[in-house]
Amino acid sequence: MMRVHHVGYLVKHLAPAQQAFARLGYTETSPAVYDPDRDADIAFWTLGTCTVELVCPRSERSVVAGLLKKFKNTPYHLCYETDDLEGELKRLENAGFMRIDDPAAAPAVPGEARVVFLYSAQIGLIELLTQRP
Ligand code: NI
Repeated sequence: MMRVHHVGYLVKHLAPAQQAFARLGYTETSPAVYDPDRDADIAFWTLGTCTVELVCPRSERSVVAGLLKKFKNTPYHLCYETDDLEGELKRLENAGFMRIDDPAAAPAVPGEARVVFLYSAQIGLIELLTQRP
């Protein structure tokens, strides 16, 4: 069974986005970390059972810079945690989800997480995450 881990938000400016989530009652659960692969600053904020991942690209080179330009500040993926990344990946690919990258380390996520992104024509972008090696 997969569990919802976070909602990924694209944000153009990190500090004002953090202020907005603070006003909604969220607290910072993981301070901003620079992810060199994605060329983005990434922070986690939580309210109750809901965690948001703020993804703020640093430059046009970032893999998410184009998405931010197109969609502005917006939620853009749901991340699901699983104990069996390879198994879920296979299952979802067989069900029509398109893998758009290879499982890779996610340095901004607390712990030793690995993540992979998939695209569904029906529901857009999702992320799978595991804390298992
Ligand atoms: Ni994410």
